[in-house]
Amino acid sequence: MSAAPAHRPRVAVSRTGLPGDGVERLTARFDVVDWTGTQPPSPDQLARLAKGCEGLLVLGSDRVDAALLDAAGPDLRVVALASMGYDGVDVAAAAQRGVVVTHTPDVLADTTADVAMALILMSRRRLPAAMDALRRGEWGAFRMDAFLGLDVQGATLGLIGYGQIARALARRAAGFGMRVQHHHPRRREDDELSRWVPFDELLRTSDVVSVHTPLTKETEGLIGAVELAVMKPTATLVNTGRGGVVDEEALLTALRRGELHSAGLDVMTAEPRTDPSDPLFTEPHLVVLPHVGSATEATRSAMVNLAARNLEAVLAGHPALTPIPGTTGLPTHGRRQHTTR
Ligand code: DGY
Repeated sequence: MSAAPAHRPRVAVSRTGLPGDGVERLTARFDVVDWTGTQPPSPDQLARLAKGCEGLLVLGSDRVDAALLDAAGPDLRVVALASMGYDGVDVAAAAQRGVVVTHTPDVLADTTADVAMALILMSRRRLPAAMDALRRGEWGAFRMDAFLGLDVQGATLGLIGYGQIARALARRAAGFGMRVQHHHPRRREDDELSRWVPFDELLRTSDVVSVHTPLTKETEGLIGAVELAVMKPTATLVNTGRGGVVDEEALLTALRRGELHSAGLDVMTAEPRTDPSDPLFTEPHLVVLPHVGSATEATRSAMVNLAARNLEAVLAGHPALTPIPGTTGLPTHGRRQHTTR
């Protein structure tokens, strides 16, 4: 009598050609179906791909809602995000269905903090404007008064949120001679890098305000017209977290009126965006990047690999390595365990 073929769980991956070898590892153990379209899948397309899957590996920009979880079906046990932010996930819907959700902390903080530091320097020193002028053939003479920016050394950096990326930025800022302060609503502690200050004081006294909170109901629109008005007219606002934390209309107005020196954004409320005449792209005192905070080969590979390891662990009946905060990383349902190691 021949042995029954080993069960190979079905796993969906929401993009093809992801960096790292995580997906290859998954392919050795599971029936992997990946989305091969040139554009990201629509919610319907992702739902069809997910049907019958026990695990999903998705990106932070994919919506993981009740409809997707239900489309996957009752065998779904884990959604592994290759992303630190999990604002695209309906966490309650996943918990109700006993599905583990994992994310990728630890592996991207330094890389993203590099981009935050770059945005501080680019915005305060007006470097993109200088480069644009050069490319237009306007560098006819060395001028003492051209592209004058504001110094970073001696300036005060105010961090809104004080997680891994904010602390990595604090370390960099110290090397640039900046003073660092932070606000976190619950953890009211100083440390060797930074001192805790109330939110209002941070806005009032910082030369650079950098946003590092996750996007939640509480933080949506946290930096609006009122908060921008409290900031110094010589201040710079930087956001490498999530676009929804900053009210973009209010930011554009403050920049146009000269109520704020400059801003640097790696994230926007609506992403992606392709209109070259988008006011966010044409405002001279605003530096924008297309969500590249974690975009190095090594870091993006590490994100995908960690997501794959989380998925493997849960399907093998082990707790996830990095479940989203406040969860155990163990599914509360499931039929079988698969030995993968
Ligand atoms: C993250 O990890 O949250 C980045 O924004 C990429 O999704």
